[in-house]
Amino acid sequence: MVDAPDSKSGEGNLVRVRVSPALPKLLNMKKKQTLTSVFSLFSTGITIVTNGTKKSEYFGCTINSFTSVSLNPAMFLFCLGSDNKHLKTFKLQSPLNINILSNSQKSLSNKFAGRLEDRWKNLDYDLSKNKVPYFKKSLGLIEAKVFQKILAGDHTILLCKIINYSNFNSKKPLIYYKSKYQTI
Ligand SMILES: Cc1cc2nc3c(=O)[nH]c(=O)nc-3n(C[C@H](O)[C@H](O)[C@H](O)COP(=O)(O)O)c2cc1C
Repeated sequence: MVDAPDSKSGEGNLVRVRVSPALPKLLNMKKKQTLTSVFSLFSTGITIVTNGTKKSEYFGCTINSFTSVSLNPAMFLFCLGSDNKHLKTFKLQSPLNINILSNSQKSLSNKFAGRLEDRWKNLDYDLSKNKVPYFKKSLGLIEAKVFQKILAGDHTILLCKIINYSNFNSKKPLIYYKSKYQTI
């Protein structure tokens, strides 16, 4: 059981969310693979979440679990593996950016899903108002703050409040479908 914001009253009250602890135990490795292949039938866009306001603290990770949640207040969520060493850097109220990738950013997506030490090497990035790095050639940018962290099975849901957003260009999006890059 974990605390989560009450969907009726907004951010103030907390409700208890039941996350079945039995589910991961019930799924053996084969079933997990099958589940991954079913999840992969749901095509998504691809984003890179970035955080850190000092160069030594910059972190970025390719994610396709980004989902819009609410217009008023403006919110989205994404999920990070709970074993991600950088999860603890996403502190409540800390700033982060969501970079929505175009189909010309496959190598950037691979870089930020690859070796941690290679991610910021020889890279063109700028700093947004919140001092967090972002990638100007993306389709769009969302600047946000972490609002709530909810443990859900082997991932943690990060619910975020939007502070600012920009559209950069109208290139085609980078899509992920059946564990492969696609576009429209
Ligand atoms: C297209 C794509 C989407 C991904 N989406 C997620 C995601 O939503 N959440 C997540 O935790 N990892 C996701 N990953 C994996 C991470 O990018 C990364 O490889 C993995 O979490 C290890 O990250 P770390 O080295 O920062 O711990 C995705 C990878 C790819 C290629």
